[in-house]
Amino acid sequence: MIWGVATAAIQIEGALDEDGRGESIWDRFPAANGDTPAIACDHYHRWPEDLDLMRELGVDGYRFSIAWPRILPDGRGKPNRAGLDFYRRLVEGLLERGIEPNATLYHWDLPQALQDAGGWAARDTAHAFAEYAAVVVDELADVVPRWATHNEPAVTTWLGHLTGDKAPGHRDLTEALRAGHHVLLSHALALRELRRHDVEAGIVLDLTTVYAGGDDAFARMDAYRNRFFLDPLFRGEYPQAFDRPDCVEDGDLELISQPVDWLGVNYYFPMRVAADGTELAQRPPTTAMGWEVNADAFHELLLRLQRDYGGVPIYITENGAAYDDWEPVDGVVEDPARLAYLRDHIGAVERAIADGVDVRGYYVWSLLDNFEWEYGYDKRFGIVAVDYVTQRRTPKRSALWYRDLIASRRTA
Ligand code: FCB
Repeated sequence: MIWGVATAAIQIEGALDEDGRGESIWDRFPAANGDTPAIACDHYHRWPEDLDLMRELGVDGYRFSIAWPRILPDGRGKPNRAGLDFYRRLVEGLLERGIEPNATLYHWDLPQALQDAGGWAARDTAHAFAEYAAVVVDELADVVPRWATHNEPAVTTWLGHLTGDKAPGHRDLTEALRAGHHVLLSHALALRELRRHDVEAGIVLDLTTVYAGGDDAFARMDAYRNRFFLDPLFRGEYPQAFDRPDCVEDGDLELISQPVDWLGVNYYFPMRVAADGTELAQRPPTTAMGWEVNADAFHELLLRLQRDYGGVPIYITENGAAYDDWEPVDGVVEDPARLAYLRDHIGAVERAIADGVDVRGYYVWSLLDNFEWEYGYDKRFGIVAVDYVTQRRTPKRSALWYRDLIASRRTA
């Protein structure tokens, strides 16, 4: 079992204009409060300190993402050596500290030049992604044993192109369905590049348990939230209960359903819908995001994955909670609610393992407070607090608790 922590490039790195990085769609999609990822946690400069922090916590693994616009500033073409070197230094720093790197190729920072050429709604973006994947894995496959193509295609698809909550902020169902299909296709094309190396390749989905007032409402919401991605990947078909993309070409689904070595699962909260399909309010207790705290729903999700899509090893690639407390007192931040959230959700994972679910790792979201997309810096998911004025990092109580948990599981 790998006990780890997770982050994503644009949420922590800053340095958007340094060393030849190109623009991404998130560079120009400010949060509602005006925050931008320009500096974030300044991790681009402070990464050695952040790696030391991880070593002090005793984590086995670190899940991070690679910024496409650092590698290929215009999305395609000639690789930017400085970008590749940054990630090589980072990965070597991890290995020196005994921490296993788990790299995600796409955590939402599409090069702006590709957005200008049609973004994920355009089939060609899938080919551009495969070219990018080839450059990165040829460079880093010798030092990174575990890779994910995409983080949460559902967010790229639905929040990026249907609700408009996230970059590029479009609102069009036809476009969203195309974007979703092209993301899946790009996963498949990138998988072929990963297969040229001796690495474990997977994909990270955000999945949840849906509680619905009726069967039809369940089927539709489950298809939207879970099966739109699970079914093409593991069954080679789109679910009946939701709209389907109009851009599927012969052979696409066969390619998309090529086996992966592992499935990443991000879980935060359950989903509730009324019989008529409308989304219901989250039930208390909730986190600072307004998300329901429900570890049993997590346990249920893992059992369901084993039952319906069994056979693929699972890594919990994100799980965690935002709460407001962050100011240190005597060198530590007290965050009892986050600690309880992690304790109960890790408990759910361990129960699922005892029930026979093949879970091989768990990564807390997140190592650091960071740029939480459209919420800016207001929402703090870190087990380590960041003071954005001084960039000082202070462990929260939950981080110390997690350190002790890892140590106890290791001796057990
Ligand atoms: C997930 C994202 C991650 C973070 C958490 C809170 O959807 O993958 O970047 O924002 O939510």
